[in-house]
Amino acid sequence: MSLVTVETVGDVAVLSIDNPPVNAGNSAQRSALFDAIAVLGARTDVSAIVITTAGRHFYAGSDLREFDLPLSEPQLPAVISALDGLTIPVVAAVRGLVLGGGLELALGCDARISTPTTELGFPEVGFGIVPGAGGTVRSARLIGVESAADLVTTGRRIGAAEAEKIGLVDAVVPDSELLERAVAWAAGLRSRRRLVDVPSSAPFADRAGVTAGLPRRHRPNVRIAAELVVDGIELSATDALAVERKTFDDLRITDESNSLRYLFFARQAAAKDLRGSSGPSRLERVGVIGAGTMGAGLAALFAEHGYRVVVVDGNTDALARITEDSITTSTLLDACAECDLVIEAVFEDMAVKQDLLQNLEKTVRDDAVLASNTSYLDLDEMAERMLHPNRFAGLHFFNPARRNPLVEVIPAAKTDERTRSALGSLASAMGKVAIVSGVGDGFVGNRVYADYRAQAEILVEDGATPAQVDQAMGEFGMAVGPFAVADMSGLDIAWSRRKRLAPDRDPDCRYVHIADRLCEAGRLGKKVGAGWYAYPDGAGRGIDDPAVNAIIDECRAAAGSTPRAIDADEIRMRILGAMVAGAAAVLASGVARRASDVDVALTEGFAFPRHRGGPVKAFSRLNESEQVRALAAVHSSDPHGYPILAESGDGVVPSAVRRLLDEATR
Ligand code: NAI
Repeated sequence: MSLVTVETVGDVAVLSIDNPPVNAGNSAQRSALFDAIAVLGARTDVSAIVITTAGRHFYAGSDLREFDLPLSEPQLPAVISALDGLTIPVVAAVRGLVLGGGLELALGCDARISTPTTELGFPEVGFGIVPGAGGTVRSARLIGVESAADLVTTGRRIGAAEAEKIGLVDAVVPDSELLERAVAWAAGLRSRRRLVDVPSSAPFADRAGVTAGLPRRHRPNVRIAAELVVDGIELSATDALAVERKTFDDLRITDESNSLRYLFFARQAAAKDLRGSSGPSRLERVGVIGAGTMGAGLAALFAEHGYRVVVVDGNTDALARITEDSITTSTLLDACAECDLVIEAVFEDMAVKQDLLQNLEKTVRDDAVLASNTSYLDLDEMAERMLHPNRFAGLHFFNPARRNPLVEVIPAAKTDERTRSALGSLASAMGKVAIVSGVGDGFVGNRVYADYRAQAEILVEDGATPAQVDQAMGEFGMAVGPFAVADMSGLDIAWSRRKRLAPDRDPDCRYVHIADRLCEAGRLGKKVGAGWYAYPDGAGRGIDDPAVNAIIDECRAAAGSTPRAIDADEIRMRILGAMVAGAAAVLASGVARRASDVDVALTEGFAFPRHRGGPVKAFSRLNESEQVRALAAVHSSDPHGYPILAESGDGVVPSAVRRLLDEATR
């Protein structure tokens, strides 16, 4: 199949890109385009060219799989430069997605005609790079520095109307007329309008305005993209294009960019698990049981996405917090009789949830899907007394439900395919990033995050201060360190869970009592003005508190720990090692389907820095002796707690971790 076809309409040649499904740019497609342009340039019977698509999308960016390897020739700048070298005009007739390299190709044309539903943008910054085929240079010359900087630094997609307003496209026409109008436009062009011919201009006055507020740390490419736009306008186009390409090439091979590509494919792999074979069931009416923190958040989330929502809670005070007009509230389960989906977010208590499910089944339709938002409980046990456990699964949202992108879909032993795929489609319809998890304490995300928190507390008992741990993890890229996070979310939830699990706790595993002592002292976090830190007079940021140090000292003494100085590097390595141990355990037990699902969960749900790719990816970048050292340190911090790391004591990467890392680097 040819990736590019050429027809003529009068003396205008129409070159259609045909690389389904989204015309993504790759080596073969670029070659085909380059050759076609060369052939057309040599034809004397052709007076203009229209470049368009044979499919629904003009060109939705480049194939990112090529970006980890040296790019093969011809590269995109050469293709666009071939357009610049033509003596006849070229018009881009665009529809669907016009992203990244696709927009750069369009900017290499003399004019751009689009359909009303076309979306255009430069998503490059989201992948740790910058546009590299003239995007910053030609857009600044066409639409001005401010608009160009906005597009390249935000990566946002704009619609045809906005594109026309800022001058990115010359006309918006009905889809059915796109080709005809573009051909007429091309035939009517008398002179070339090559953006590389636009002369360089005077220094841009508001440089600081354009770069204000752009991140410096962790995402340097965003600022660099803005600087390319601002600086490029003062250079000759040739020089500006050369600088831009060099910058693109340098950024393309950074770990940051590699991580972001890895996560892109990781999210795609996770999404494939949820593409059901039984076709999506339409879920329109949703019941939420429980109007607490999560129930209220879920109700708002569903309502925001156009679902008809009813919330049921036995407590009328809780219901009173639901203020959204479009949400119905009730104290009776009967209110869910007509719901397509009912999700429970009642107390984290097995008996309460089992009773509720049993009662719910008496009220709801036979084909209603039932889900639990439980954070930790065993879904198979929860379903034990259900009449139709096939229609039940876990659907675990994270707090705050509206803003946190992660959802875990957890099929229980008897969950059927229809239920699984209905929940998967629901998650994606609400714009969430979903992974499939197996049944297991804390599923994937909370389980690995628990390992992170546990090691942070062990580090404190060993001699670090909470502030040192928070600072080390902040430097690593976590927006907020583990102790500040605990203070923000409140220490009581984890405390009640620890109390519940206490009878079954393995006495040989290390247990750090500091958090329990803080809770017993009423230090439940920021909401009460005291937790791991003090928050005098409602301070936003906590400060060190001698009372906390005293509790820490007592706990260290009781545990027989002789505190020693622990540097930031050891803190980071041990925390990362502990998360990797957790990841290896969930993979080995089948709770996680693949290594990269752990990275998706932690980056989407727990603000683990995306530019590091997630804990598994980040750990895979260490050399083997660093890996062994980190894992051995974690193992010796709690030998019974980390049996999976036992082999690290022999100076090797344990086999379960090896399997995990091999998967993440494949
Ligand atoms: P919450 O304590 O804030 O709210 C629970 C609500 O359920 C209360 O309003 C209570 O009156 C109501 N309720 C209890 N039993 C009921 C019954 N039989 N029928 C009707 N209403 C009943 O609890 P929260 O924090 O919202 O958690 C709810 C569930 O969501 C739990 O399973 C929890 O593990 C899970 N979850 C919580 C997250 C969080 O950060 N708070 C995050 C993710 C999941």
